[in-house]
Amino acid sequence: MMPKLSYIRHDGTRTDVEVSTGATVMQSALERGVDGISGDCGGACQCCTCHVFVEEAWLNKLPPVDEMEDAMLDSTAEPRRANSRLSCMLTMAPELDGLVVHLPASQL
Ligand code: FES
Repeated sequence: MMPKLSYIRHDGTRTDVEVSTGATVMQSALERGVDGISGDCGGACQCCTCHVFVEEAWLNKLPPVDEMEDAMLDSTAEPRRANSRLSCMLTMAPELDGLVVHLPASQL
């Protein structure tokens, strides 16, 4: 089964995709041409240009924020919120089928 994933841009535009298990939310956005995520460091948790706001219902299904991600989240272009994550740290899995992430207005 290919888990479904939805990106909602700052302007409300929604893109629904099906992604391979094991792909990150950042990689899938780049592959599908979803603008609003740049992923400048290639997924190494070093740039915070893959910042997303995760829809509340999914928060407790995600792996916890580790120390490195936590530190990077303090440097995002759009201020961090309680549901902020770096999307290169979010790997799609069957239990995340239907995941919805909101994209900030800016990543830089
Ligand atoms: Fe650089 Fe996620 S792509 S921190």
